[in-house]
Amino acid sequence: MTMNNGEITFKEITDGNVAVCRELCNALMKHQADNGVMHAEVLRAMNFDNRLKPSFEHSKEKQLIVAYDGDVPVGYVFSSADDETEESKTMRPSWAAQLSGVNEIGMYPEWLALPNKVGCLNNLYVMPAYRGRHIAASLCDRAMHWLKQLEAIAYLYVYISNGNDQVIDFYKKYGFTFSHDVFGGFIKAYYQKVEAES
Ligand SMILES: CC(C)(COP(=O)(O)OP(=O)(O)OC[C@H]1O[C@@H](n2cnc3c(N)ncnc32)[C@H](O)[C@@H]1OP(=O)(O)O)[C@@H](O)C(=O)NCCC(=O)NCCS
Repeated sequence: MTMNNGEITFKEITDGNVAVCRELCNALMKHQADNGVMHAEVLRAMNFDNRLKPSFEHSKEKQLIVAYDGDVPVGYVFSSADDETEESKTMRPSWAAQLSGVNEIGMYPEWLALPNKVGCLNNLYVMPAYRGRHIAASLCDRAMHWLKQLEAIAYLYVYISNGNDQVIDFYKKYGFTFSHDVFGGFIKAYYQKVEAES
């Protein structure tokens, strides 16, 4: 891969061409699978075509920001927001079918006040050679700004796959605190409540 090592530029994808993130998304999914200790095979089956692409296409409101070195994508963050209902608490995504625990908490816990609009910081990835240059911080600053200014946004969530705990402190800096274990600890959910502007 070309490495320009020049100035990093940040662009929002506004033409729907989410495929610019195919390699980065697949690298993120591989990172998660390599670190996974619980049902790593479920993580291993995740890729751009069954995760980022459909999420991007189906989310009501979304923002995809890509960091470029020249014309080479080197990092990205994908954020989305949807209207969630009580039914969202018992919804089981197709990838969770094999995670067959009884009475497990799903994507949202019982105590969360729904229906409400919930935002999600879905994907964050920076290529290893580009880490430590505040690229993720720049991506997250943009994503958090976008999420928090959404009309009627009530909560923000970020989901961390099992074994990827090293990223938890990064998200804590952005105000996220632990919410619950999803599907028996396959994922850890962190959240924050968005205070309405007075
Ligand atoms: C996590 C990740 C995105 C950070 O990217 P990065 O560009 O190196 O991070 P930045 O340089 O923007 O770091 C910004 C700040 O956060 C800190 N930081 C970076 N990674 C951190 C981590 N894992 N835990 C705690 N702090 C972290 C940096 O030290 C820096 O602190 P400073 O402002 O005091 O200097 C990158 O390591 C990555 O892609 N990891 C693999 C994918 C992944 O786990 N994504 C999350 C999926 S839920």
